[in-house]
Amino acid sequence: MRIGILGTGGMAAALGSAWTAAGHHVMIGGRDRVRARQTAERISASGHGTLTDAAGHGDAVLVAIPAAQAPAVVGGLAEHLAGRTVVDCTNPLAPTGEGLMLATSDGTSLAGRLAMAAPGAHVVKAFNMCHVSIWSMRPPVFEDVALSVPYCADHPTAIVVTQTLISSIGCTPAPCGGLARAGYLEATAAFAIGLWFAGGQPRAVFPSPAESPQP
Ligand SMILES: NC(=O)c1ccc[n+]([C@@H]2O[C@H](COP(=O)([O-])OP(=O)(O)OC[C@H]3O[C@@H](n4cnc5c(N)ncnc54)[C@H](OP(=O)(O)O)[C@@H]3O)[C@@H](O)[C@H]2O)c1
Repeated sequence: MRIGILGTGGMAAALGSAWTAAGHHVMIGGRDRVRARQTAERISASGHGTLTDAAGHGDAVLVAIPAAQAPAVVGGLAEHLAGRTVVDCTNPLAPTGEGLMLATSDGTSLAGRLAMAAPGAHVVKAFNMCHVSIWSMRPPVFEDVALSVPYCADHPTAIVVTQTLISSIGCTPAPCGGLARAGYLEATAAFAIGLWFAGGQPRAVFPSPAESPQP
């Protein structure tokens, strides 16, 4: 698959490296072409270029820039993103006196904002739940269980593309409904990050009823 990545930082490198190792054709796109080249060379990506180059390259396009800037950047690329699967891994969080809080207080998820900014794109929420260090694992497996990657998507093609992005790096796709539910993934990431900072273990918080001796 052809994958364009908007961003040259930690998430771009971690997921771009995993997808490159899985045989996908990854193009790193950045506003700084030197950084785009450096990141692409570091992970042996197929190519590098501008944000527009990466948007136009991908069957899938990963948005790996800060949430606060993402709607404007994606809106500016809307014509290049039309018809493509646009994967939003951003976490719209802002520091407050109560800790990191969601910065989407009007109730519209960041993924929903990207869908409004680029109406022809097939926006998906995915890959936002884990720290960059987890995406750097080959593969991310814990106690012999592959990492589950929750995603929210509406478009049938985008669902298939997302499942491929997830399974090709050794993870298990976990469908969580349509894009209207993307805010739940963003809120859950905010919750999990707060728990990490408090020294807690999110993996211990969510056992399914099936794991109880009396389900
Ligand atoms: N780090 C994590 O553990 C993690 C986990 C899950 C999700 N996420 C999400 O993934 C996204 C990227 O995080 P990261 O850790 O990869 O961040 P990062 O290492 O700081 O990289 C951010 C990238 O965004 C680019 N950027 C910043 N403002 C921009 C703008 N206005 N236009 C175009 N590009 C811009 C930066 O370019 P320059 O180098 O030119 O500044 C850089 O390439 C964030 O939304 C974050 O919430 C992060």
